[in-house]
Formats: sequence, C-alpha cells, structure tokens
Amino acid sequence: MIEVKNLTKSFDERIVLHTINAVFETGKTNLIIGRSGSGKTVLLKNIIGLIQPDSGEIFYDGRKLIGMKKKELNILRREMGMLFQGSALFDSMTVLENVMFPLNMFSKDSYKEREKRATFCLERVNLLDAEHLYPSEISGGMMKRAAIARAIALNPHYLFCDEPNSGLDPKTALLIDDLIHDITVEYKMTTIINTHDMNSVINIGENIVFIKEGIKEWQGDRRQVMTSNNQALNDFIFASDLFKKVKEAENDRMI
Ligand SMILES: Nc1ncnc2c1ncn2[C@@H]1O[C@H](COP(=O)(O)OP(=O)(O)OP(=O)(O)O)[C@@H](O)[C@H]1O
Ligand SMILES: [Mg+2]
Repeated sequence: MIEVKNLTKSFDERIVLHTINAVFETGKTNLIIGRSGSGKTVLLKNIIGLIQPDSGEIFYDGRKLIGMKKKELNILRREMGMLFQGSALFDSMTVLENVMFPLNMFSKDSYKEREKRATFCLERVNLLDAEHLYPSEISGGMMKRAAIARAIALNPHYLFCDEPNSGLDPKTALLIDDLIHDITVEYKMTTIINTHDMNSVINIGENIVFIKEGIKEWQGDRRQVMTSNNQALNDFIFASDLFKKVKEAENDRMI
C-alpha cells in the first residue's frame, strides 16, 4: 500500500498539486485520471521520488519516503518497476537483452540464472518468440509487452505506469491493461497507472483517483465512476457521447 498525505508541489510559484491525500492499494490496479496538464505525471514523479514535494508525506507500506536514508532508499528503489510513456527500450539491444538489463545492473545471480529469469518474464507476457529481435523489428504492442517484462524482471512490489496505452489501438490497449492487471494480482503488487483512457477506467479501474487542476476531486472504483454525482468527474468521464449513453442506460436500468 502506498499512502500520499497532504502532498503539495509547485513550480515557480505556480501550485501544480494541492494537498493531495490518496491511498493506493496492494494487489490492485490503482488509476490516476484527469485531463492533460492536471498533474498526473507530477504526482507519479513525486511518489517515486524523482521530484521532491514542497510539503507532504509518502509512505510505502509504512516506510516514509521523504528523508529516507540512502541505503534504505536503494532497497526501496529495487522494489519499484516502471513503465513510462513510450516503452523506452534500448534500440541497440534485443528484446531479451532489454529484459536482462535491470538484472545485469542489480542482480548478483549468475548469467544463466539471469537469462532464465528474463526468459520467464518474456514467457509471462507471451513474447518469447521475439526474444532475439530488436525493438525496431517488433510492433508497438510487443514493445509495451517487452517493457512490462523488463519492469517485472526484478520482481517489484510496486509498479508505476505512465500512460501505458499511449499509441496503441483500442484492442491492443485492452490486452496491455489486462496483462498489467493480471500480473498485479498474481504478484500482489501495488500498481499505479496514469491514464486518460476511458476504456482503462472501465476495464481495470479498481481504485481511481481523479485529479482536476492539481486537486483530488474524487476517489472510487469503476462502478462508482458510472453513477457518481460529482460534476467535475462527470464532465471528464462523459465528455464523450458514448460514455454519456452508457451512463443513461445505467440510470434507466436502476429506475
Ligand atoms: N518540471 C516542471 N517545471 C515546471 N512546470 C512543470 C514541470 N513539470 C510539469 N509541470 C507543469 O505541471 C502541470 C501538470 O503537468 P503533468 O505533466 O503532471 O500533467 P499530466 O496530467 O500528466 O498531463 P498529460 O495527460 O498530458 O500527461 C502542467 O501545467 C505542467 O506544465
Ligand atoms: Mg502525464
């Protein structure tokens, strides 16, 4: 479980996050949603310690991130897997070498064992066939799967994904969502995903934090999202006609 308490962050006097309080649960896909520029990436960067908040606290299963000693911080960092916008694979390495990279950096296991672990992760994301190909030789969806395999190579307790679906067609995006959800449950990770993809909200929104202009407006799950009376949330979710129709159908069903 990751807890964010009273987190505030500003850049050049402009407040980007205002006293955010949120809990992200273990074994669940926790979503941070909101319009472009609402502060999702800045919040995620604060959570992983890439930038420092002006005030507030972040707890990883009770461990306080801010002010953590270097040794403890190094241990925590190894418990984090990351999947950032774009898949950020190394172009000069094969898929297998990409997945082995964090193991080569941090694991003391023998080459054979590291290779075995990387192969296991590639198998888990159904990409073993492509292990000897280079990123330029595989599709966008395959790149995401390779990046997921790399993110889970060190068996992380916490997984962070910033817009994991960007650039994918809707069907492939759903497959990637399902994969992230399944490994979250399987490995009991605390997973936080930034998204503005409504399909993801409906598909894997087990715990959703909605941010508007740096303020947490609402928190709930995918069922509650469809029936909430929060105006700002509805304006965001039902900006598309399709979701407006789904909500109307849901309301009719309840009457
Ligand atoms: N390093 C920085 N210096 C100054 N301002 C920044 C910095 N990083 C982010 N911001 C500002 O903070 C605000 C929130 O940005 P953020 O990237 O978190 O938005 P977002 O919700 O992730 O948007 P998107 O959906 O487009 O990725 C924006 O107005 C952005 O310009
Ligand atoms: Mg962002």
